[in-house]
Amino acid sequence: MQNPAWINGSFMDLAEAKISIEDRGFLLGDGVYEVIRVYNGRPFYLDAHLLRFEKSASAIRIDLPCDTGQISETVSTLVEKSGWLDGYIYMQLTRGSAKRDHLFPPSVRPALVMYGRELDPVPAIDAVEPREAITLPDERWLNCNIKSTNLLPNLLARQQAAEAGAVEAIFFRPEGIVTEGTRSNVFAVIDGTVRTHPATNLILPGITREIVLDILQELAVPVSETAFGLQELKAAEEVWLTSTTMEVNPLKSVDGAQPAAPAPGPVCRLVMEKFRGRIADKCFEDVK
Ligand code: PDD
Repeated sequence: MQNPAWINGSFMDLAEAKISIEDRGFLLGDGVYEVIRVYNGRPFYLDAHLLRFEKSASAIRIDLPCDTGQISETVSTLVEKSGWLDGYIYMQLTRGSAKRDHLFPPSVRPALVMYGRELDPVPAIDAVEPREAITLPDERWLNCNIKSTNLLPNLLARQQAAEAGAVEAIFFRPEGIVTEGTRSNVFAVIDGTVRTHPATNLILPGITREIVLDILQELAVPVSETAFGLQELKAAEEVWLTSTTMEVNPLKSVDGAQPAAPAPGPVCRLVMEKFRGRIADKCFEDVK
């Protein structure tokens, strides 16, 4: 089963997986999700993802239909069934299926679905091609810390970026504060300090962001979770993006402005190396 799926307790092939047209995730975007990377057949930082999943669900007042221990076991079974070693598990929780109404349905079972898909293994650092990013106004709501399936502003901005030949659109709020990418967190080296937006309601608290902050601390590199502006971003010494599927991705330009150091700059390269070390520690430890 290359793409195994699971819906509310049953395993099946992704092609056979069906959900009601009246599912509130489908009709209303009434749900939350997670994407978990699998390396060498092992989920990477699964507990952190499950903790964030619980927080997202609780923020929109949906009860998880099972505990995170059971979800964790299901993730392992999906990976086993898949037969691949490198991929991701997607999971989504919606309020369930009911006659369409904005009000929460009184007694409906939430729908939890999961499936897996294969990905390429993590590339060697020199195989990661630094890409361009553009900046766009952040038109999202003020609860970006919730990993909601409502992604329209992200999709529109990402599409605009792709049509401009860019890998990502980086959002900024009206006062010019840089928040995050459409599907990634943003780091910039400004005057020798690594900066990233603090984990407030204006960004998703990325699991990769957290790992990178930990790595930077280990490296004793000056780091500050303080907001920075568009001008600072464009004049930064280095800029990179982080996400579960993009890992640590150096940028060669933002709106055409190139960082002082050719990408990946020295700090980014160190972080990329250490990040691969984390993958080795967490997912390959018995073969090291
Ligand atoms: N995106 N910010 C946004 C808006 C995101 O959608 C993501 C992740 C991140 C990075 O978070 P993490 O490091 O936990 O993956 C930041 C996922 C991968 C996606 O939607 O596909």
